[in-house]
Amino acid sequence: MVLLQRNMKLRKQPPLSLSLVTFISITIFTTATTIISPGTTLYASNTNQSWPSPNNTFSLRFYPLQTTPSSFIAAVVHSGGAPIIWSAGNSAAVDFGGYLRLLPAGNLRLVNGSGATLWDSNTSNIGVTSATVLESGNFVLSNGTSTVWSSFENPTDTIVPSQSFNLGMVLRSGVYSFFLQKSGNLTLSWNNSVTYWDQGLNFSMSGVNLSSPVLGLKSEGILEISDPNLTSPVVVAYSSDYNEGGNNVLRVLKLGDDGNLRVYSYLKGSEVVNVNWVAVEDQCEVFGYCGNYGVCSYDSKSEPLCGCPSQNFEMVDPNDGRKGCQRKVKLEDCVGKVAMLQLDHAKFLTYPPVFVVNPEIFFIGISACSGNCLAASSCFASTSLADGTGWCYIKTSNFISGYRNPALPSTSFIKVCPPVAPNSTPSLENVVKKHWRIHGWVVALVLSSILGFLAFEGGLWLWCFRNIPRFGGFSAHYALLEYASGAPIHFSYKELQRSTKGFKEKLGDGGFGAVYKGTLANKTVVAVKQLEGIEQGDKQFRMEVSTISSTHHLNLVRLIGFCSEGRHRLLVYEFMKNGSLDNFLFVDDELQSGKLLDWDQRFNIALGAARGLTYLHEECRNCIVHCDIKPENILLDENYNAKVSDFGLAKLSSATNHRHRTLTSVRGTRGYLAPEWLANLPITSKSDVYSYGMVVLEIVSGRRNFEVSEETNRKKCSIWAYEEFEKGNIRGVIDKRLFCEEVKLEKVERLIMACFWCIQEQPSMRPTMSKVVQMLEGVVDIENPPPPKSITMGFSSAINTNVADSSAL
Ligand SMILES: *[C@@H]1O[C@H](CO)[C@@H](O)[C@H](O)[C@H]1NC(C)=O
Ligand SMILES: *[C@@H]1O[C@H](CO)[C@@H](O)[C@H](O)[C@H]1NC(C)=O
Ligand SMILES: *[C@@H]1O[C@H](CO)[C@@H](O)[C@H](O)[C@H]1NC(C)=O
Ligand SMILES: *[C@@H]1O[C@H](CO)[C@@H](O)[C@H](O)[C@H]1NC(C)=O
Ligand SMILES: *[C@@H]1O[C@H](CO)[C@@H](O)[C@H](O)[C@H]1NC(C)=O
Ligand SMILES: *[C@@H]1O[C@H](CO)[C@@H](O)[C@H](O)[C@H]1NC(C)=O
Ligand SMILES: *[C@@H]1O[C@H](CO)[C@@H](O)[C@H](O)[C@H]1NC(C)=O
Repeated sequence: MVLLQRNMKLRKQPPLSLSLVTFISITIFTTATTIISPGTTLYASNTNQSWPSPNNTFSLRFYPLQTTPSSFIAAVVHSGGAPIIWSAGNSAAVDFGGYLRLLPAGNLRLVNGSGATLWDSNTSNIGVTSATVLESGNFVLSNGTSTVWSSFENPTDTIVPSQSFNLGMVLRSGVYSFFLQKSGNLTLSWNNSVTYWDQGLNFSMSGVNLSSPVLGLKSEGILEISDPNLTSPVVVAYSSDYNEGGNNVLRVLKLGDDGNLRVYSYLKGSEVVNVNWVAVEDQCEVFGYCGNYGVCSYDSKSEPLCGCPSQNFEMVDPNDGRKGCQRKVKLEDCVGKVAMLQLDHAKFLTYPPVFVVNPEIFFIGISACSGNCLAASSCFASTSLADGTGWCYIKTSNFISGYRNPALPSTSFIKVCPPVAPNSTPSLENVVKKHWRIHGWVVALVLSSILGFLAFEGGLWLWCFRNIPRFGGFSAHYALLEYASGAPIHFSYKELQRSTKGFKEKLGDGGFGAVYKGTLANKTVVAVKQLEGIEQGDKQFRMEVSTISSTHHLNLVRLIGFCSEGRHRLLVYEFMKNGSLDNFLFVDDELQSGKLLDWDQRFNIALGAARGLTYLHEECRNCIVHCDIKPENILLDENYNAKVSDFGLAKLSSATNHRHRTLTSVRGTRGYLAPEWLANLPITSKSDVYSYGMVVLEIVSGRRNFEVSEETNRKKCSIWAYEEFEKGNIRGVIDKRLFCEEVKLEKVERLIMACFWCIQEQPSMRPTMSKVVQMLEGVVDIENPPPPKSITMGFSSAINTNVADSSAL
């Protein structure tokens, strides 16, 4: 043995011929000297000492760590190129006084200079008689007849050819681990919990159940899985240098401390190492690569780079970004309200279970994704994928792994203590610093006043609610914050049953179901609509709800929340004190004359409804055709401002009838329906314009547009009104009940002319809603409208008969 060590010392860089001679001399000693008997010790202080394999391809030795000087790991290393293929205690490092000993009892033990046991093979008293490093690199303990322990069965972070990686084995590196699943799937996990890579087998014959899959690396560079139930092994991955270099190349599969799994090729006898396969192509997709709150990105050389979300954070270790970031001010120490920091083109990695599938994923818009997180005390961050799905991930555990890339469509939000201090781009940093120096005191002054204000506001807020017992509960608190944030609240059916006192007070019957009055826990009065005939699943429903709730306008009724539970589908709206417009237009004048709207109110309602519709059609992100404009769907708040309701609901009802519209399947209300509804022509926003025109006619005349009476010369109201208008008798059209008051004829004229343009039979003749608004506001001149009913259109007469005959609302 001593002789052998001398030999090895000489062999440092031997010429080929000498090396051959040495090989032969080693071979002579092989059988005798590579068997380690119990009681033998390997010392860290002597790095030249080793336990070699027969042909010295591999050896077990102490290996100095490059990162921390004078610490050593006991490792099986390859003699050429020196990749470490196994280490005692998975890279447990000892100091100069450390040693590895095969104890007389048969257990292998790694001991630190302090005398502390860092690792033990736990093989005492099972008859271990020797230890050997085999040519394959396997380090085995044997009882004389068979192997009782081996490094191949207890791998650390590497697999070499001829090694079998079985079910239940694991490669570890830091917090990362690699497993083979019963299904044959290969998985990479962070902290034994988050699986960030899961690759299934690509079977041509699917449905094969594996019994005991084994992963192996072939020396030519193939990763394959074999199993008794498979007729031949299945290739999982090819090394890109497949079969190159023959025996001169050693390939290993290694889990790096960066959480990635790679196949490396070592050219034997040289320092050349190549990566020829990698599991996670995008290093930033490795969960936790940049530590907690760390944000991964790429530098100009495409190397992954770790940073913090914003100036509200600092690195835990300024010299090592991978250790993650921490808040400069903890959320609980925050003065004033916590705010959401917005990170564009960034996501927080959304692997389960850190983002549990339910109930932490919502289908909502970007701003609601931020608001929802802000409102929930359990939420730390949220990510809106913004990839068209509308998915919002709410992060409730406090390990957050970020990824920022200009190519990412996602927008992320993270709770911070104000003031929000976004990262400046590197090129701007100096400029910013200069400004800070010059205007430092100004900024400080502004900051302190903001903080003071926040503190005051926070105090006020607490003071306001200190005596409201109902507000104490978490759910009420949550609901109020959520309401304020603009995200729709998800109610349970029970909650809504309670708030409506068992659906007691019916406000009305809309086209989609009955509406009930209710009071939420925070005393907000609401209108709860119990939808009927909604066949959509929960997902689809939530998507529509998120569209509706992201639509905010002064002249649109606001959606507060929803319930989707079993077959129950309910919508919760803000309550409108004065109900719907029809109650004021078509009243019995003797009994309820007090409810009559005066002229100014009527004009403002017409203008408000037009503005609401303009927003729906032209200004909001997901344009909505209402499809059911009528006085019943124009609600009035306490100041008689018009608010359009029930928008977005047409999409909720079964879309299947769109192709085969019949009079019975049409969702809209007859009398207000544009002719194209009945002629199976495309429905566009111009169809709403038509309905709106009919409503305007009713606002002016105070009678239903389809009413036929002696006063209208037995003609449809719209036709009669146009005839009166042509005769120059505008006064004749106006609601007679208004005559006792001042009616501004100029405004009436504008209203009526706009109305006639709106109810043109040809959709292309009708103005857009924004044009209508301009007409009413008087900022554009209105041309004389042609007669609404065009003789040239073939389908018109039939339709008008239908409409006129219909007595339905
Ligand atoms: C060791 O090397 C010799 C010569 O290269 C070879 O004949 C022998 O099979 C090798 N032994 C093992 C165990 O690989
Ligand atoms: C080993 O002992 C040294 C002091 O002798 C100590 O600094 C080091 O932390 C110990 N290593 C381990 C892994 O316990
Ligand atoms: C070695 O272990 C094997 C399996 O554990 C056992 O069958 C065999 O009897 C043992 N041999 C000796 C010499 O103890
Ligand atoms: C890792 O998991 C353990 C237990 O499963 C947990 O206590 C620990 O907090 C986790 N580490 C991090 C950084 O979350
Ligand atoms: C296996 O991996 C595939 C992705 O390659 C995944 O879709 C599948 O769910 C996984 N199967 C199991 C049992 O985890
Ligand atoms: C499976 O392998 C076949 C042939 O190699 C390939 O055409 C197919 O795209 C693969 N399927 C998947 C899901 O990778
Ligand atoms: C595989 O296992 C599943 C569940 O154990 C079983 O339902 C299925 O029939 C099995 N398939 C085959 C091909 O054996």
